[in-house]
Amino acid sequence: MSIQWFPGHMNKARNEIREVMPQMDVIIEVLDARIPYSSENPMVAKLRKDKPVIKILNKADLADPEMTQAWMAYLEQERGVKTLALADDKVGHIHKIVELCHKLVPSKVGPGKQIKAMIMGIPNVGKSTLINTLAGRVVAKTGNEPAVTKAQQRIKLDDGIMLYDTPGMLWPKLENEHYGYRLAATGAIRDTVVVYEDVGSYVSEYLLATYPELLKSRYKLDELPETDWEFMEMAGKQRGCVRSGNQVDFTKFGTILINELRSGTLGRITLETPEMKEREEAELAILRERAEAEKEAKAQEKGKKRSKRRR
Ligand code: G4P
Repeated sequence: MSIQWFPGHMNKARNEIREVMPQMDVIIEVLDARIPYSSENPMVAKLRKDKPVIKILNKADLADPEMTQAWMAYLEQERGVKTLALADDKVGHIHKIVELCHKLVPSKVGPGKQIKAMIMGIPNVGKSTLINTLAGRVVAKTGNEPAVTKAQQRIKLDDGIMLYDTPGMLWPKLENEHYGYRLAATGAIRDTVVVYEDVGSYVSEYLLATYPELLKSRYKLDELPETDWEFMEMAGKQRGCVRSGNQVDFTKFGTILINELRSGTLGRITLETPEMKEREEAELAILRERAEAEKEAKAQEKGKKRSKRRR
């Protein structure tokens, strides 16, 4: 999956965040409960220093509840991190964010005082919906197309909190091949660049291994095959995604599968676990080390050639 990482406004926003972050008292990072690792912003860990962070696992109604609990426990192991799971019934639970802000920054609570909170999240994670619920009025535009929020804005809440909204954007975790697939599967990447056949196959492989019963029940299959393509063929036929010559239309079935995953029709599904994060990070560290060593070796080689030429 190729992703366009740095459209102009993302780069600009990145610099703005770097500039504004030191003045903030607390960071509210909105994560997608189905992909808490892939929806995380690596800049938060890099720039926050000792600043407290509230990680909201949003769209928890679509995620596997057991996994959401596991993720919350895992994320809270990090110093200064508090978590909160929110779902489509936010209104009744939104006060918990305000309470957490007050608890985390007690020195800024009281008459004449104000907590500065920066809110961030990848496109389509539900950040605007959350801001509107917090504000009790429509201040941020919502919509199912990623990257709706474009400019940074400030929103004054009634509870002594000033919210600094940041544009919804994706952050590069370049070497991780899983990242693009998971973002596409959950709807964070624009539909125009999503290859449904590929994302469908990626998701099928994961679901076959992790949620086989949900697949069986949704696609009315008594037995499941071993491979993702066999599954797509079987379920595609079942769903009538067939072209002339009885060939399965993988793009059509991939689109159905992804749409059913995104809407929750397939069931409550989480696409990554803390163990997967640990494993992938460890693999990435090895890759990075290797790339560094190669770069160094090349530089040394260049240096040798240069000094030979001088002699
Ligand atoms: P963004 O600012 O982060 O880009 O996201 P936004 O609030 O626009 O939300 C993107 C979509 O996610 C919206 O749906 C919104 O209703 C939905 N959403 C937000 N929070 C939750 C949640 O906790 N659970 C579920 N299931 N969905 C959530 P939409 O289909 O684009 O539009 P709409 O017709 O619902 O407004």
